[in-house]
Amino acid sequence: MLETVIKRDRDYGTPARVSEKQVSLTIDGQEIRVPAGTSLMRAAAEAGINIPKLCATDSLEAFGSCRLCLVEIDGRRGYPASCTTPAEEGMVVRTETPKLHDLRRGVMELYISDHPLDCLTCPANGDCELQDMAGVVGLRNVRYGYQGANHLNDAKDESNPYFTYDPSKCIVCNRCVRACEETQGTFALTISGKGFDSRVSAGQSQPFLESECVSCGACVQACPTATLEEKTVIMMGQAEHSAITTCAYCGVGCGFKAEMKGQEVVRMVPWKDGQANRGHSCVKGRFAWGYATHKERVTKPMIRKHITDPWREVSWEEAIAYAASEFKRLQAKYGRDSIGGITSSRCTNEETWLVQKLVRAGFGTNNVDTCARVCHSPTGYGLKQTLGESAGTQTFDSVMFSDVVIVMGANPSSAHPVFASRLKRRLREGARLIVIDPRRTELVSAPHVKADYHLPVRPGTNVALLSAMAHVIATESLIDESFVAERCETKAFQQWREFVSRPENSPEATEAITGVPAADVRGAARLYATGGNAAIYYGLGVTEHSQGSTTVMGIANLAMATGNIGREGVGVNPLRGQNNVQGSCDMGSFPHELPGYRHISDDKVRGEFERDWGVTLQPEPGLRIPNMFEAALSGTFKGLYCQGEDIVQSDPNTQHVAASLAAMECIVVQDLFLNETAKYAHVFLPGSSFLEKDGTFTNAERRISRVRKVMEPRNGKSDWEVTVDLSNAMGYPMHYTHPSQIMEEIARLTPTFSGVTYAKIDRLGSVQWPCNDEAPEGTPIMHIDEFVRGKGKFIITQYVPSEERSTRKYPLLLTTGRILSQYNVGAQTRRTPNVMWHSEDLLEIHPQDAEDRGINEGDWVGVQSRAGDTVLRAVLTDRIQPGVVYTTFHFPESGANVVTTDNSDWATNCPEYKVTAVQLTRVSQPSEWQRQWSRFSDIQQKLLAERETAPAGK
Ligand code: SF4
Ligand code: SF4
Ligand code: SF4
Ligand code: FES
Repeated sequence: MLETVIKRDRDYGTPARVSEKQVSLTIDGQEIRVPAGTSLMRAAAEAGINIPKLCATDSLEAFGSCRLCLVEIDGRRGYPASCTTPAEEGMVVRTETPKLHDLRRGVMELYISDHPLDCLTCPANGDCELQDMAGVVGLRNVRYGYQGANHLNDAKDESNPYFTYDPSKCIVCNRCVRACEETQGTFALTISGKGFDSRVSAGQSQPFLESECVSCGACVQACPTATLEEKTVIMMGQAEHSAITTCAYCGVGCGFKAEMKGQEVVRMVPWKDGQANRGHSCVKGRFAWGYATHKERVTKPMIRKHITDPWREVSWEEAIAYAASEFKRLQAKYGRDSIGGITSSRCTNEETWLVQKLVRAGFGTNNVDTCARVCHSPTGYGLKQTLGESAGTQTFDSVMFSDVVIVMGANPSSAHPVFASRLKRRLREGARLIVIDPRRTELVSAPHVKADYHLPVRPGTNVALLSAMAHVIATESLIDESFVAERCETKAFQQWREFVSRPENSPEATEAITGVPAADVRGAARLYATGGNAAIYYGLGVTEHSQGSTTVMGIANLAMATGNIGREGVGVNPLRGQNNVQGSCDMGSFPHELPGYRHISDDKVRGEFERDWGVTLQPEPGLRIPNMFEAALSGTFKGLYCQGEDIVQSDPNTQHVAASLAAMECIVVQDLFLNETAKYAHVFLPGSSFLEKDGTFTNAERRISRVRKVMEPRNGKSDWEVTVDLSNAMGYPMHYTHPSQIMEEIARLTPTFSGVTYAKIDRLGSVQWPCNDEAPEGTPIMHIDEFVRGKGKFIITQYVPSEERSTRKYPLLLTTGRILSQYNVGAQTRRTPNVMWHSEDLLEIHPQDAEDRGINEGDWVGVQSRAGDTVLRAVLTDRIQPGVVYTTFHFPESGANVVTTDNSDWATNCPEYKVTAVQLTRVSQPSEWQRQWSRFSDIQQKLLAERETAPAGK
């Protein structure tokens, strides 16, 4: 997986075909057998015969425009293009004849006569297919000369921060246009003009930055010349070596080839064999990695006694010793349970494992929790109760077999873009779509995609809506009776059927609650139940509610009732937010569960860990994050080790969180930047980026992929090494010298991981858990013959209105979400040119609600809730329904979470981010909180800037 030279991935020219029928043919004397539908070009390439090509590439359907790939076929007149001609039984094909050579040279001459022959100074020198083909066809002169009309002086478009468009080098092969359509699904590019004047143009002949382009990079990847080229390649030249690794942003978990020059990244190229992304990417993973070397990164450990003191840079030894001594002091003074830790869904499985181990074995408490608490903890709970396993059921590839897809409370175009592209491809092929979301998200009406139903549910009423859909399925005889009889618990099913069939759960009765017209609910339910393979994909718009767990169970009920589980194209699929949120849950980050979702009170399981770890573990669950805050305010929780999570910005009710942190005596933050939480810290341990460490991430498909170190950590240590040091200093020895040893321990102690090794991941590319003796190569689809819990269990989902509802004082409901270019608290993406697309959080308001309050586009608007108030700039849009307002939460100064309340899911305490009753008023200045935040932040930045630096050598 580590390459010391850059090898271009093998390109077979056209996509692979799958067919039960095989055809046999002869190419250049070789007998070849391929699936029916395979192009001659691909058939030849699979036999090692490379036919020259320019407009073809195997990620795109053939187009047949360049005429370089001509072949001769016995019994056929002319010279057909091999990329567009399918292989047929008995064909005899020749790819190399004098006539073909002549024709190909003629084609190349035409291209080259309108091409700047600046190969030696071209950024693509050595990585240009035009250059290669000139060599392959043996081009020696250009009869047409270079004096005629040409495009050599056409102006470059440099508007995109990450790539340039240089039309003088364009050969109009259309690959970029097709990549934008087929791979990405944005349709931002066209070939404008005719004949000699044809050129690629973005949008309505706009600069790329102003067009609909979402900067995914697919066109750059597809371009065979330097026309579309990464700016980093232009600046740095071609890479020297590479390694395969995994994106550290979202739960899609795209594989990338990190192309390097020494210790510097030249570019991140989506990995063609990446099983989650199949060679595609989004703007974040592809381009937004510059934060890793951003000047604001803190790379030396720092300590201070009080948060009003200046920081003091110290050696690693001193920082670790100080943190450990403080934790020991606190435990001696306030008791064993006065400290705890938070693991990170941004860190590797191995790092997360170590933090929970340190807390349980080194601190001697179960006070460990993770940021999954605030996103997908209801998924873990809800799916465990109904299906028996706390994870999604499918692969992303599975969507290509779906006939109907429900997307609920998720906006994959922004938050899981590579999955969105795959989904849109399937929808363009004819699959039907139901979107359940208070907002009209992009999917509702994307280029060449239109949802059959958009159910704009009122925030907080998901459970009522799902019960209404279940009512239709149960009362219109749409239940898959044989599936339910064979696979599910009978009594629970009967109770559920009786419950959902009640008149009060009908679409007509619930319309007043959900705001969704009954006829649409009926139509959507019928489509889901009868439309063939039906899959549900859902996101935080399902989980982050006071009834988040109930909603997850409602989704599982629907899937079981209609038999849509246990095969390709169906299933229940949580779109996990962060890169390793699945992994952080799997690794035992919750206070009540040991790794593999086994309750801490289970003596047998705890005994296994005690024997392996050589300690006695506490049998009682520890504190969840919200309980830690409460305990801090009541004076019983005093110290926190927080790895890679910015709780002050990401958790609800910011003022409450900040007050809790201010009440603690020792906060140790391990992170890349002095984030909002670090402003309350006493020890800062510099973190390492994903480029600087080895390990694994587990994506939303349960897919475990390798993260590989491509550069030395700027801070001197990978995160796992820091936890090892802290544990040793606490008196609980850890002796790992490489993360693979941690994975061996994970496999030893976690039944669903027992077959996982780095060697296996290297061999297979990635592996989906459960991976054990029963499934040595992993489990792409779960619950095939029976549910993990045996029989599937229907659970009654009684709708309980959120306490948070609109009132006369707070008449609107605020809901939150993400935007494509920024990621979560924005700590990374805000430090990249991605801010060119989104430099502040905006408040979306329906024009009617704005008019009622005298608010105009761009006005500053005060947003008041029971928890607090903040000020955001208004955007008027009918994407959002009347009565609902929406914002993102990527910038700390926005204070989106100052407004959100500490209501939470009844089962898991996952905060109810998606429902906050608010009032809006037009204002002319920042809120009191924003003014305080600015003052506090300025002071903290000053304390950082004026830090006492460590003596040289430390
Ligand atoms: S970067 Fe992506 S969205 Fe933009 S034009 Fe290229 S393929 Fe289309
Ligand atoms: S920009 Fe590149 S991919 Fe697009 S038509 Fe021109 S040469 Fe082909
Ligand atoms: S879709 Fe997610 S994993 Fe893939 S490149 Fe984008 S942020 Fe990274
Ligand atoms: S590669 Fe076949 S026509 Fe261009």
